[in-house]
Amino acid sequence: MPEQKLKTSIAILGCGDVGSTLAYTLILNPVCSEVILVDPKTALLEAQVRDLSDATYRGNTGTRVRAGTHKDAGQADIVVITAGAKQKPGESRLSLLSRNLHILSSIFSAMQPISPHTILLLVANPVDILTYFARKLSGLPESQVIGTGTSLDSARLRGILATKADVSPSSIMAYVLGEHGDSQFIAWSSATIGVTPLSMALPSSTDPTFRAEIASHTRGAAGSIIAAKGCTAYGIGNMAASICKYIMYDQLTVRPLSFYQPELGCCLSMPAIIGRKGITRVMPIELDEREKRELEDCANGLRAVIEGAEKELEADQELAKALEKDKGA
Ligand SMILES: NC(=O)c1ccc[n+]([C@@H]2O[C@H](COP(=O)([O-])OP(=O)(O)OC[C@H]3O[C@@H](n4cnc5c(N)ncnc54)[C@H](O)[C@@H]3O)[C@@H](O)[C@H]2O)c1
Repeated sequence: MPEQKLKTSIAILGCGDVGSTLAYTLILNPVCSEVILVDPKTALLEAQVRDLSDATYRGNTGTRVRAGTHKDAGQADIVVITAGAKQKPGESRLSLLSRNLHILSSIFSAMQPISPHTILLLVANPVDILTYFARKLSGLPESQVIGTGTSLDSARLRGILATKADVSPSSIMAYVLGEHGDSQFIAWSSATIGVTPLSMALPSSTDPTFRAEIASHTRGAAGSIIAAKGCTAYGIGNMAASICKYIMYDQLTVRPLSFYQPELGCCLSMPAIIGRKGITRVMPIELDEREKRELEDCANGLRAVIEGAEKELEADQELAKALEKDKGA
């Protein structure tokens, strides 16, 4: 009989800026009994565990933090992958692909066997491409492999529209969809404030110059923060922690998330319901003609990148096999 599971756990692979901020957020807003940190930089890992543990002793959280292995992570309720290189100032997310795909591939070899109930949450960039490959490498059902996608971009969109409309961000329903990257687009035609169409509630929002300014803000927000402080961590840490909460509490919340789109042949962000089983339902969204074209362009771009990366991954796996054979000879 399988051993009874007594603890709920979230494993965070990579405890640099994003991973440690996520861990801290999960301590302050507990949703599981333990947070397991995994990182090959052992001195950093131990220091993060000690520092984060210090934040648990005041007694206002039941969540404990410990260091673990990739194998431990494979048995967690949620595995959040922040492991990998990050953008240097001025660098695009796609330029990280080669380095982060190698790391992803090694992570999945080290994590096996992965619990069939684990939800994978990809944060490392380029997040849509890595989500696509995580789905292939993990062997988990598509519904359990999710990327944070444009959830952060959509939060930034809410923030700026809230300022323009003089209303709380929580009253804005507007999504950035597609790639978490340069080809992302705003679904203007479905945006509302409360239940009022954005075009009625904020007439200036139909002006092309206004739209271009907002789109440039959401697309470029990360770049300007990275240029000034070297990383973005609080926004994504908070967003990833919220997604963990929706999963652990089976909240069945609608969010724009990156997941596999069979009709487009790639992972990109669309609205979906998320709970303990991962994506439980895709929420259809009406797009106007322009938005449909933007979605198509976005998918074409991502598919082209996937094709190149697929070859690179195959060569990588062949090399690993040959090295393994050499070791055995
Ligand atoms: N999706 C988003 O919206 C979003 C937002 C911000 C950052 N990011 C991405 O998140 C990633 C992490 O950013 P960061 O600022 O924390 O970087 P960082 O360099 O501070 O941390 C990355 C950590 O990953 C670790 N790592 C490397 N290989 C590993 C492995 N095999 N297993 C476990 N850990 C491993 C490194 O040792 C390092 O500590 C980057 O790819 C960045 O672009 C995504």
